[in-house]
Amino acid sequence: MFTFATETPEDWWEVEALYDLCFAPGREALSSYRLRDDVDPVAGLSLTARDADGILGGAIRYWPVHVGRVDALLLGPVAVHPTRQGEGLGGLLIQDSLGRAAKLGWERVMLVGDAPYYSRFGFSRLDGVEMPPPTNPERVLGHDLVPGAWDGVRGPVTRWA
Ligand SMILES: CC(C)(COP(=O)(O)OP(=O)(O)OC[C@H]1O[C@@H](n2cnc3c(N)ncnc32)[C@H](O)[C@@H]1OP(=O)(O)O)[C@@H](O)C(=O)NCCC(=O)NCCS
Repeated sequence: MFTFATETPEDWWEVEALYDLCFAPGREALSSYRLRDDVDPVAGLSLTARDADGILGGAIRYWPVHVGRVDALLLGPVAVHPTRQGEGLGGLLIQDSLGRAAKLGWERVMLVGDAPYYSRFGFSRLDGVEMPPPTNPERVLGHDLVPGAWDGVRGPVTRWA
């Protein structure tokens, strides 16, 4: 049984420690992190999932980005503690936060990740959307929160300004 809550400043380092545990060393060298430098995550969308004892089981964050001339959400990082993986928590974090994003008026979401996992949430390959190199274009995925929101959207993904 997990309780979801929006991440607070007090959660920040605990979430960072979870990400350090779940991702390969050097995660912050990934090109997607250059889009997060000096930009705050989107308020109200970054979530923590804690069990009945308050232990952090999973977390998700979102950043705003520009894609060509439009705005989008960059989903991630999302991670679930290794002892809690495979029980549906990652899926719940993604679905819950996508619902919140739609309610906040966001129209489109993108991420860099494994299509076999994210396709179950409606993500598919984005053609012509260019992440900073080096990024495998096969891993650049998008999801519409408003039907057709990615239609015709092309160009570089740039840091929020
Ligand atoms: C990816 C992650 C968040 C999923 O969380 P989770 O709570 O284990 O996921 P769920 O329980 O909702 O879903 C489990 C299912 O996803 C599948 N899955 C998990 N990671 C996958 C991946 N990278 N590619 C394909 N399938 C994947 C599992 O095989 C399982 O499949 P099943 O439903 O057919 O049995 C978690 O495994 C994790 O933290 N991994 C390390 C960090 C990471 O890679 N984050 C994503 C960065 S793109």
